[in-house]
Amino acid sequence: MSPIAMPLSPMAEMRAITKRYGGITALDQVDFRIFGREIHALCGDNAAGKSTLIKVLSGAITPEEGEIVFEGKPVRFRGPRDAKDLGIETVYQDLALADNLDVAANLFLGRELTHERTKGIFLDLRRMEDEARNLLARLKIHLPNVRQRVRTMSGGQRQCVAIARSVYFNARLVILDEPTAALGVKETQKVFDLVTEMREQGLTVVMISHNLNHVFDLCDRITVLKTGRLAGSRHISETSKEEVLRMIMTGSSSPDGDGGAGAKPVRLSA
Ligand SMILES: Nc1ncnc2c1ncn2[C@@H]1O[C@H](COP(=O)(O)OP(=O)(O)O)[C@@H](O)[C@H]1O
Ligand SMILES: [Mg+2]
Repeated sequence: MSPIAMPLSPMAEMRAITKRYGGITALDQVDFRIFGREIHALCGDNAAGKSTLIKVLSGAITPEEGEIVFEGKPVRFRGPRDAKDLGIETVYQDLALADNLDVAANLFLGRELTHERTKGIFLDLRRMEDEARNLLARLKIHLPNVRQRVRTMSGGQRQCVAIARSVYFNARLVILDEPTAALGVKETQKVFDLVTEMREQGLTVVMISHNLNHVFDLCDRITVLKTGRLAGSRHISETSKEEVLRMIMTGSSSPDGDGGAGAKPVRLSA
């Protein structure tokens, strides 16, 4: 087989993942394949299992069944540390920023840079500020000042700081749980610019989103869950908002709901 005809292998692959909470099956044999350097949207109605799936991928919870393969190797996460060691970083909706601290301090929260002096070990504020400026410049994030407290910043700026923090420590796959849910149009654009820049720089992004306009503007691939089951996964160029909506609502891509994979999308009147 020529190199061009070779099928692209996924960067990360979740196979037949099942996760139960008591009587609730949050995930039922879900397959999820993520390819390198793509922006992959994860969609579905409330309680579809989106957050649970990314928690499994980020090592925060362990599924009852299924396996994860990362760059061709089966991996087992005992906790988020194991996922982080592979470069899988997650930004949850609460962002986990320290409002009273400035941008630089937030970027290094829990992983502060220090220097040793004869009197002891001190925070290396100068170096953290320099590194923060370099990181923001590299990601083309425009903030007035790295010494500004994050409390005083806009929602989009705060989201960008939280994402930048995940990128700093050698992230390769960044998972974002509804990064633009609370943002206006301009602020959303800032986050989109950042996500696009991340892809340019070789990162892979998985993004939970409820906004199909956003998904179709930004993403390369979309996977839809419906009440814990995989409804479908498509390259954005081979689907339509109508088909995706149908998958979200019925769990099936076919108009008559038989789940036929080869069914042609039917245009709803626009
Ligand atoms: N910690 C938990 N304990 C009990 N049930 C949970 C827990 N987390 C999620 N669930 C249930 O699992 C299902 C999927 O939830 P979730 O992954 O949060 O969905 P989504 O993010 O798509 O809204 C829901 O029915 C939810 O109530
Ligand atoms: Mg959720």
